[in-house]
Amino acid sequence: MNEMQQNSAPAIQIAGLTKRYGDFTAVDNLSLAVLSGVIYGFLGPNGAGKSTTIGCLTGLLDPTSGSIELLGERFSSDAVALKRRIGVMPEGLALLDQLYADEFLVFQAQMFGLDKKTAQNRTDELLQTLGLADTRKKRIADFSTGMRKKIAFAAAVIHSPEILFLDEPFESIDPTTVAMLKEWLRRFAAEGRTVFMTSHVLETVEKLCNHVAIIKEGKLAWNAALNGVSTLEYGGQQYSSLEEVFLTITGRQDSSLSWM
Ligand SMILES: Nc1ncnc2c1ncn2[C@@H]1O[C@H](COP(=O)(O)OP(=O)(O)OP(=O)(O)O)[C@@H](O)[C@H]1O
Ligand SMILES: [Mg+2]
Repeated sequence: MNEMQQNSAPAIQIAGLTKRYGDFTAVDNLSLAVLSGVIYGFLGPNGAGKSTTIGCLTGLLDPTSGSIELLGERFSSDAVALKRRIGVMPEGLALLDQLYADEFLVFQAQMFGLDKKTAQNRTDELLQTLGLADTRKKRIADFSTGMRKKIAFAAAVIHSPEILFLDEPFESIDPTTVAMLKEWLRRFAAEGRTVFMTSHVLETVEKLCNHVAIIKEGKLAWNAALNGVSTLEYGGQQYSSLEEVFLTITGRQDSSLSWM
């Protein structure tokens, strides 16, 4: 990260973000800032509010209250120009199942304002690189789980976004492709772009992310830089791994079942 990027507005700035579903508060007064050029790991137990937060940050959900700034501009679900500058791989992979893989990617790219030729060229390159060239005339409905995930990744990056939101990006993807995607993300961030990702695989987060936050019951419980640190501090104690911090914050589970 160069000095200019460090001094400029954060890529993502959230203040007091709250999302309620009826009486239930899924995201509770969350504030955080993510600098450009960072791969930010957004962690927390199942149901903590990670996907809901990503939904709010990408316009898939409207927050109940709070403010969001992306790339220095105020974001809302109708901020069309700003939405073109971000990419998202959401949890629920809302893909257009009846389309062929190549049709879907070209469609997606054109929606983001790319001309047809560029859309087709990028689609070809993505399908080739992701090992999906032979499946271009298969309907997405007939894809395997990992193939769907790869197409969703391709759709998130095809318009060369400045911020990439990834909800469990590597789940179900084969190790060879995961290694390649991690390299893509490192290069992406090295160019000053920003990745905001969730993952339950803490070893991956430790190796890939520069900064990490843990949320619990919709609230920020902890956040820290991971770059070049050998121990992590939480509540005045030093921990040698992210897993130890995570288990301390979220509470260890009783591991016994009465019948096992
Ligand atoms: N549409 C909805 N209506 C009601 N409650 C919802 C809705 N969507 C999510 N929730 C609730 O909000 C909470 C946060 O859900 P969310 O999907 O954000 O969790 P998460 O951190 O992404 O979990 P996971 O690790 O399992 O993906 C959960 O308790 C969930 O049941
Ligand atoms: Mg989720």
